[in-house]
Amino acid sequence: MCGIVGYTGPNPALSRVIEGLRRLEYRGYDSAGVALATEKSAPLVVAKKAGKLNNLESSLTSTYDNATSGIGHTRWATHGGPTDTNAHPHISNDGKLAVIHNGIIENYVELKEDLEKRGHTFTSETDTESVAHLLSDEFRKNQDLAAAMRSVCKQLRGSFTLLAIHSDSPEHIVGARRNSPLVVGVGDGENFLASDVSAFISHTKKALELGQDQVVDVTPQGVSVTDLEGGAITPKAYEITWDAKAAERGGFTHFMLKEIFEQPKAISDTLLGRFGADGKIECKEIENLSLDIDRILILACGTAYHAGLIGKYALEEWAKIPVDVELASEFRYRKPVLSKNTLVITISQSGETMDTLMALRHAKELGAQTLSICNTIGSTIPRESDGVLYTHAGPEIAVASTKALLTQIVALHVVGLYLAQEKKTLSASDIVLIREEVLALPNKVEEILETVEPLRTMTRGFKDSTSVLFLGRHVGYPAALEGALKLKELAYMHAEGFAGGELKHGPIALIEAGTPVIAILPPATSEISEKMLSNIQEVKARGAKVIAIADSTTKLDVPHVIRIPQSLELLQPLLSIVPLQVFAYEMAVARGNDVDQPRNLAKSVTVE
Ligand code: M6R
Repeated sequence: MCGIVGYTGPNPALSRVIEGLRRLEYRGYDSAGVALATEKSAPLVVAKKAGKLNNLESSLTSTYDNATSGIGHTRWATHGGPTDTNAHPHISNDGKLAVIHNGIIENYVELKEDLEKRGHTFTSETDTESVAHLLSDEFRKNQDLAAAMRSVCKQLRGSFTLLAIHSDSPEHIVGARRNSPLVVGVGDGENFLASDVSAFISHTKKALELGQDQVVDVTPQGVSVTDLEGGAITPKAYEITWDAKAAERGGFTHFMLKEIFEQPKAISDTLLGRFGADGKIECKEIENLSLDIDRILILACGTAYHAGLIGKYALEEWAKIPVDVELASEFRYRKPVLSKNTLVITISQSGETMDTLMALRHAKELGAQTLSICNTIGSTIPRESDGVLYTHAGPEIAVASTKALLTQIVALHVVGLYLAQEKKTLSASDIVLIREEVLALPNKVEEILETVEPLRTMTRGFKDSTSVLFLGRHVGYPAALEGALKLKELAYMHAEGFAGGELKHGPIALIEAGTPVIAILPPATSEISEKMLSNIQEVKARGAKVIAIADSTTKLDVPHVIRIPQSLELLQPLLSIVPLQVFAYEMAVARGNDVDQPRNLAKSVTVE
């Protein structure tokens, strides 16, 4: 959701801020704006436009090279439509202070009423504008923007990342965060604040983590962090492990395609160091947790939730521990029964998804141990978990999650094997066999990607379909759910995933002559193989055009068969999902959609 950048240093701020906003575009947005301090104590230069960043850039009449500090924003509308006026920054009535915001200010109506009584004039429909007016009042008291921010944060309810600039102290950019992301980029004589590190990755790899309810004040020379009472905080420093190239398209037409093709490496990197020479599974991340676990509960949203659904099968079969998987957004409003023997695993690529974060806090309050599986170092969810297992997918820029998903599943497999080893629920020889199959996955994914062209051509033939159904059983069922989610978000088509066994309980009524049905087949040795073959006959008999995804052990008589390499049934989604990703990608391209930034979607859902 909203992308936030602040810059202060000797270089022209506008180009640094715009570059940062470009790198944050992937988060999803519908308007953009900047505020620049060009002259001490003069009104700030503010420009904002609905639509893409290009609109904002073409509205600028100068490069404002004299402005060496500024803030910029890409807005994903919540309160008030995506218009020029509602775009951020929002400014004080004297035009000297500007603020940008990610999140929701829940008490903005009462704040606004109060501010209007005090003579402030509002121009937008946003919740954010109240903060600009409040900050300008507080700043007037002692000319200290950080102190003003601390005081304002105490008056706000909701979740927020805020950045503010004031032309009376133009070298300072002040930020604050509560339940929304904000990181500091520490440069050489210049400093950055941003929603995530990609905004400043081409200028510095040094970053600082900020905690809950902390206020940060950056100038070109330094960074100072305090709590809301003004107490000094030493933020945790870390080094960014990837470079700017990793967050660029590198010759691919879309980030999503690049990320699909990066999957073999992402899996290998996530497995690195997991299998010791002595055959032991290494999982230091959970060594400090108690293994006295009688239940695992996985909480996540969207594609990460599907990773949990897939991982459940292996965790239960290998570690013999009951596993439940629940949508974080549902869990957080229930009163579930958890204990210290419940291990709650949250899964999140961004580490900032609001519902997952709130579910994690809820689980902690209820006494559970928590482990997060996350792709973003220093993000909030791993910071608040008892243990963290980082996936090594590298930056995922496309809104549609691809490589992050495969690494999340692999990470769950590592946890399952580790628990099985420690609890001795699998024999050493079984672990060796599974380990070999897991290690073979990158090459098998590579094999699928090398032979993907016929699938791309075939997909275009379905471009005018109105609905696509996905069928699977066992681990193929959550894979079917993922195939449907990908198609919905990218192709804007009706798509649904069904468990094969449920077909006759309702969904079969949807089948008409020509309805595409994508069936995910298990290996022929599976006890559900024949059941899936019967499901295929049932939909074929009603006119469906079946596309089967199967390994070479299954004989099929359907118009389209996409072959995947053989693997263990529990590992098969790591292969069967790849053609589903390509199908959704190609369909989106064929339908002329914005593949990397599908309409209405944001990469990281940081509001409820
Ligand atoms: O960053 P997270 O993994 O927590 O994100 C969760 C979902 O928002 C995300 O997986 C979403 O469903 C994807 N856009 C699907 O491709």
